Amino acid sequence: MRNNQKYNFFGFAILLGLIAGSGSSVCLAAQTETEDLTNIDNWPQIESPFPHDSQTEDYITKIINTMSLKEKVGQMIIVELPFINAEDLAKFPIGAVLNGGDSSPGGYKNTPLAEWVSLADKFHDIVKTRDGAYIPLLWGTDAVHGQNKIIGATIFPHNIGLGATHNPPLIRKIGVATAQEVIVSGQNWVFAPTLAVAQNYSWGRTYESYSSDPAIVEKIAPEIVKGLQGEIGVDFLSDRHVIATAKHFVGDGGTTDGRDQGNTSINEETLVKTHAAGYEPAIQAGVQTIMASYSSWNGVKMHENHYLIADVLKGRMGFDGFVVGDWNGHAQVPGCSKSSCPQAINAGVDMLMVTEPWKELYFNTIKQVENGEIHLERVDDAVRRILRVKYRAGLFNQPHPSLRPGGGDPSILGNMANRSLARQAVRQSLVLLKNQDDVLPIPANSRVLVVGKGANDIGMQSGGWTLTWQGGIDRNESFPKGESILQGLQRAIEASGGKVSFSENGDFTERPDYVVMVFGETPYAEMKGDINTLSFSQLNGQPLELLKKLKSASLPIISVFLSGRPLWVTPEMIHSDAFVAAWLPGTEGAGVADVLVRKPNGEINFDFEGRLSFPWPDSPEASELSKPLFPLDYGLRYQHEPTADKRLPKEN
Ligand code: BGC
Ligand code: BGC
Repeated sequence: MRNNQKYNFFGFAILLGLIAGSGSSVCLAAQTETEDLTNIDNWPQIESPFPHDSQTEDYITKIINTMSLKEKVGQMIIVELPFINAEDLAKFPIGAVLNGGDSSPGGYKNTPLAEWVSLADKFHDIVKTRDGAYIPLLWGTDAVHGQNKIIGATIFPHNIGLGATHNPPLIRKIGVATAQEVIVSGQNWVFAPTLAVAQNYSWGRTYESYSSDPAIVEKIAPEIVKGLQGEIGVDFLSDRHVIATAKHFVGDGGTTDGRDQGNTSINEETLVKTHAAGYEPAIQAGVQTIMASYSSWNGVKMHENHYLIADVLKGRMGFDGFVVGDWNGHAQVPGCSKSSCPQAINAGVDMLMVTEPWKELYFNTIKQVENGEIHLERVDDAVRRILRVKYRAGLFNQPHPSLRPGGGDPSILGNMANRSLARQAVRQSLVLLKNQDDVLPIPANSRVLVVGKGANDIGMQSGGWTLTWQGGIDRNESFPKGESILQGLQRAIEASGGKVSFSENGDFTERPDYVVMVFGETPYAEMKGDINTLSFSQLNGQPLELLKKLKSASLPIISVFLSGRPLWVTPEMIHSDAFVAAWLPGTEGAGVADVLVRKPNGEINFDFEGRLSFPWPDSPEASELSKPLFPLDYGLRYQHEPTADKRLPKEN
């Protein structure tokens, strides 16, 4: 009922817009069509992969029957770490905590592993001995490319690179490895995978998206979910897995002009076909939590969209896990604040993510249930969903986090198996866009000059959501097990009898046979990564200057481009003999040399396998992607395919 009113109101707003904008004949049509703005039949009808299980439900009912309203509301709130301490957790029946992109135990940066684990154990004990029913605690973390908050962890390529591998089974293995490394630091829940289908490269979260093509996201979604959570009927949520979150539901990658947290203004069919493509397979693979998007759909914030969350997701799509709000996302709903938002709960958000005013939110929500603004049935439904997930994950019987397999064990972080998996992912994610006169692969016994800001910077090659929220602060020392692209090149080239010299700014004394120039975007994450042009040289002109300088010395130049999205780099490509899109590869920089450098015996070591999962732009205008320079799926090989690309503009 409430929802219909909103949509009617919304239709009316459109109608006003149309009256203002165009002729009255259109508005008559709009007036009669308002009911058709949404049609639930547009959405896939899904039968939950979990048949009704009365044993579980009875168990949960018994617990719910003993719970006070306070305990129930406490389950519906997830608090960010610096704002909740052990004393608070003992006093308030809060059901979940998170470390945000910039928070960790102790509140400071790069907290040592032991402190993560001991806090997880401490929280476990506190919750266990708290008054009332025992309901285990969830601790969520943004493990979006490995356990990227912890020193020494394996950092996998960001999703954009994984999309370019077109290798869902590999991505599943990455999910397994990520779960394994997350368990080490004591968390049981990850805010991944992002299933955004980014449409506009201006968006600073493009790299969190596997592809602009819904068909690719659809193939990857179930595999990453199975990797993180295990497979239903096989090892689902075993003690080696963690709870996953499909995010951000829905339309996060479709906002106007690529603005983060903006408005996705499209019809419902496009919303379903493009932006929701990953959700059906993720639900079928058993994803247990889904995060509401900050963004709006046609002017309505997702956190207040009862139709999409309650009717579509939980009804039509059979999702029986819980919906978590984004970080203070409820505060953006008109009429809400961080400390009060019955609208979001009524719309179907089961757990609100909140920072400092969490106690106010807790007390306000209790009051809103008492005065009928939020119905008790809604609360009971939310709590049932949350307990169901905790139960399915085996948390009720789980020992201390440090006693889970691998808990607290530093040798698991960045272990050889996970690092070689990451290195394989790096190799397979590289996309060769240009290879004039077969300059690549670099022959054995070559003298190679490595230049550019990205060559010896593991922080830069890892991008945002790496140790810190926006990334890029940490130097190589903070990645004790990682390797920069330079280190990988040095090893491979020296092994083949060649010699590497490194000069960030491109100066050299001895003339090299080849130059490898590693450059690209400096790290960013949500909000701060939005841009207004896709022209890389306009964003950062220095690399082009350096390329021109090197080119004027007639040196063969191999460019390795680090970026969170395809950018317009035609000028840089013109001044390069070979051009490789390397995305944001993470800690295993050696994967780049694996493909770029020939074996000591002169054979090709690894061929390129990556293919674009986002078309490459032919213009600085983000809106002109319909005519790309390189289409989706493009990527050259050493073997089998023509090497010099005709489409590329010639030097003039
Ligand atoms: C959190 C992010 C959040 C941001 C907002 C960070 O610490 O981790 O998730 O969006 O702060 O400022
Ligand atoms: C982001 C989410 C993230 C959350 C918690 C938000 O700002 O949008 O993707 O999971 O913060 O850090």
